[in-house]
Amino acid sequence: MATIVFAMLSDTSRCLSNISFYPAIQIHDQHGFGDLTNAGGLSAAECASWCCDTAECMCFFHTKSQLVDAGNCTAGKPCCWLKPTFNTTRLDDQCADPTNCLSGVLGARVPAVPTTTIAHDSAGRAVNMTLAGLGTGGYWVGNDSAVYAGVRSALRLGYTHLDTALGYKTQSSLARAVNDSGVPRSRLFIVSKIPGHLDGPGAAAAIASSVSELGAPIDLMLIHFPGTWSGNGSRATRQATWRELEKGWRAGALRAIGVSHFCPRHVDDILEVATVPIAANQVEYHVGMGPSGANRTDDPDFDRAHGITYESFMPFCGQCGDSELITGNLTNGIGAAHGKTGAQVALRWLVQQGIPAIPRSGSAAHQLQNLDIFDFALSDAEMAALSAFTKPKLAGEGGDCDVP
Ligand SMILES: NC(=O)c1ccc[n+]([C@@H]2O[C@H](COP(=O)([O-])OP(=O)(O)OC[C@H]3O[C@@H](n4cnc5c(N)ncnc54)[C@H](OP(=O)(O)O)[C@@H]3O)[C@@H](O)[C@H]2O)c1
Repeated sequence: MATIVFAMLSDTSRCLSNISFYPAIQIHDQHGFGDLTNAGGLSAAECASWCCDTAECMCFFHTKSQLVDAGNCTAGKPCCWLKPTFNTTRLDDQCADPTNCLSGVLGARVPAVPTTTIAHDSAGRAVNMTLAGLGTGGYWVGNDSAVYAGVRSALRLGYTHLDTALGYKTQSSLARAVNDSGVPRSRLFIVSKIPGHLDGPGAAAAIASSVSELGAPIDLMLIHFPGTWSGNGSRATRQATWRELEKGWRAGALRAIGVSHFCPRHVDDILEVATVPIAANQVEYHVGMGPSGANRTDDPDFDRAHGITYESFMPFCGQCGDSELITGNLTNGIGAAHGKTGAQVALRWLVQQGIPAIPRSGSAAHQLQNLDIFDFALSDAEMAALSAFTKPKLAGEGGDCDVP
């Protein structure tokens, strides 16, 4: 027999009813998911900090058999739910369009996520990328269930920008999560990547494969790497792949096209033949890589000088085996002064430079934190301290520039 234990929690400053999770509620109700809205699978501590027993919200322990919508919740783990009596109509009054929830309903809690115009599509319409998105690579590669659950959770929270790749083998699980969420595809910004070192027919087939899994148009398609992952590459294959991306752009299947891991020399190869601007270069960049100067693998100043949006991947150095940016003294010390976590400071350092960031998280609370970085500013001294920091590591170790 299942047991329900109601937790009476006194801190109301971060209650669900204090609007932290309102976009989720908004989206669910707009798409008829019923009265009980799962706010995401949370740990007991997260549950205690986010969900308070108020007129509208309760925090309780349950077993899966009791769930109306199991969502991210797992058997025997605590979960936050909203009471069926929650008054959603007032949200509708404030925010008619769920896309605008972060800027509308959440104004007091999570500020609007700014966008940057990275390109124009072949019909001349601006292509706008939000500065905060969700990564679905790294340790999620090949893990359909993690991607599905993570994307569903992010969409509940109001994320619109999702990053994937043909090589992650998770495009279809991401597409399924989008489809099941009920959030219209047109409200989302999906980035994918095709492998490097392909000839023309190979690149065309890779684009077709991505389009068939994700649906068209894909908002931004990148060449994942200047060569193969083992380091083979050539100017000829980079140019052949780029020409296929341009065909996809002209046909309207790709709204914007760009590159990833490209050094200035590789970018020059594309510029030599490009008739469509390179929208973005997605590269490893995070606190710790600031002072690497001329030794850095991928050069933000060079990209900016050529009108290319420099986009960060792995903003916490998530595959470095080093949690410095999340648990370390520098980011957390600065965060304490702003009421933010170290992770939020690491992200803020990027977006304050206009660099979009795509952290990966399977935790609803972390996902929310990673959006909640636009209501504070780091001082010049804080930015300088973060830019001078040399942990977790300096750039130049990735080998991108070694690709011929
Ligand atoms: N173009 C490329 O070749 C390339 C290469 C690498 C990555 N990428 C892209 O960049 C994305 C991000 O990189 P990544 O996935 O390697 O690593 P990452 O985003 O730097 O770090 C992910 C790790 O950080 C934790 N985390 C996230 N938010 C947190 C928070 N607020 N507080 C504490 N911990 C937090 C996550 O754990 P929890 O799940 O517990 O939150 C996870 O362990 C990838 O998913 C992929 O889309 C692209």
